[in-house]
Amino acid sequence: MNNIKLAPGVYYVGAVDWNTRDFHGYGTPRGVTYNSYLIVDEKICLIDTVKYPFAGELLERISQIVDPAKIDYVVVNHVEPDHSSALPMVMEKAVNAKVILTEAGKAETLKHYHKNYDFQVVKEGDSLDLGANKLHFIPLPMLHWPDSMASYLDGEEILFSNDAFGQHICTTKRFDDENDLHDILYEAAKYYANILMPFGKLVTKALGKLAQTPIKMIAPSHGIVWRSHIPDILHKYEQWGSSYATDKVVVAYDTMWGSTEKMARRILDGIAAAGVDAKLFKVSAADRSEILMELLEARAILVGSSTQNNGPLPTVGALLTYLKGLRPAGKLGASFGAYGWGGGAQKVIDEGLAGAGFAVDSSLALKWIPDQAELDQCFEYGLEFGKKVLAAKK
Ligand code: FEO
Repeated sequence: MNNIKLAPGVYYVGAVDWNTRDFHGYGTPRGVTYNSYLIVDEKICLIDTVKYPFAGELLERISQIVDPAKIDYVVVNHVEPDHSSALPMVMEKAVNAKVILTEAGKAETLKHYHKNYDFQVVKEGDSLDLGANKLHFIPLPMLHWPDSMASYLDGEEILFSNDAFGQHICTTKRFDDENDLHDILYEAAKYYANILMPFGKLVTKALGKLAQTPIKMIAPSHGIVWRSHIPDILHKYEQWGSSYATDKVVVAYDTMWGSTEKMARRILDGIAAAGVDAKLFKVSAADRSEILMELLEARAILVGSSTQNNGPLPTVGALLTYLKGLRPAGKLGASFGAYGWGGGAQKVIDEGLAGAGFAVDSSLALKWIPDQAELDQCFEYGLEFGKKVLAAKK
C-alpha cells in the first residue's frame, strides 16, 4: 500500500492485515488493520506502532517519508500488543526517541517489553510541542485498557483515538467517504459491541471531554479514518454509551436433536406477531461477535438450549461467558429449551443472564419433542415476550 497523507505532514504508516479472522475471540471476517500515523513537523512523532509481524512494513513506510532514526517521539496511546508489539523493533531504529505514554502505559510497557526506554509520562492536559502543531493528551482509561489515551493534534484538528471509533475492516481506501458508510458503521457497531460495551459510562464521559474540541478528523488505530461522517460516528457512540435500544429481540439457541430449534422458530414467529423485530442465531453455526453486534441495539435476548447433563449445551455456555464479560446494560433476558428427564438448562441460563446484568423474565421448558399444542404455546410465549419488550421501551 502507498503511504496516505491525512493532512500536511501527517501520514498513515500502518498495516492492513487482510488474513486475521480472530481477535481474542472476536471474529474478524474482514480482517484487521493496525493504524499508525507519522507526524513530520519540526519534531517527528510516530503515533502508535503495529502488531509485531508487521514491524518491517511499518518501518518501510516510515522510511519512505523520513529516516526512522530521526523520530523524536513515539506516542504509545495503548499498550495492547496489536498497537505496541512492534515498539521494540521501532526503538532499535529510533534510537533517540522518547516514548510518550500514561503512567499506567509505562508500567504496562515495562511488563511487556522489559526495556527501560526514555519514557515521558503524560497526564490530562499535558501537551507536546512539535513545531507548527502541538499534540495534546487525553487519557481514556479502560477504552480499552487502563493505559489508554487519545492524542489530539491541534493545528490540523486530528484526534488519534486509538481503539475508540475503530472498526475491524480491511480496505485499500483509508477514509470514510471512500467506503460504504453502511459497511463501516456496521463494523464500528460490531467493534463497540465486542470491545467497548462494558465501558458505556466511560464512553459517555470521553464524549463529554471531546465536546468542545474542534475535530476535522478522527484517526483510530483500527479501520478507516473518519473525516466526512464524524457526526454520524459520534452520534452512534453517544447512543451506544447510553444503552440505546430498539424494539428488537435476539434469539440465540442451540439444539441437540431439533426440539429446541422448533421452539426457537415458533417463538420467533410470536415475537414478530407482536410487531417486534427479531434475529435468530443458532449459536453453533453463528459468529458470536455478530450475535453481540445485533444485541447492541436490541432490547432483549432469548437464549435457548436443550438440557445436557443438567445444564445448557457447551456452545450456549460459551455464549453466556462472553455475555458476562461484555455486560450489556439495560436489557431483558429469558431462556427456553427442550429436555428429556430432569431438565436444568434454563436455570443455568437464567443465572448466567442475571450475572451478565439482564433483567430475567420467565422461561419456557418443554419435555422431549413439542407437539402442535406445545408449539402454539411457544408462539404465545414469543408473543407475550414481544409485548413485554414493547412495554419496556423507555
Ligand atoms: Fe486495538 Fe485494545 O487494542
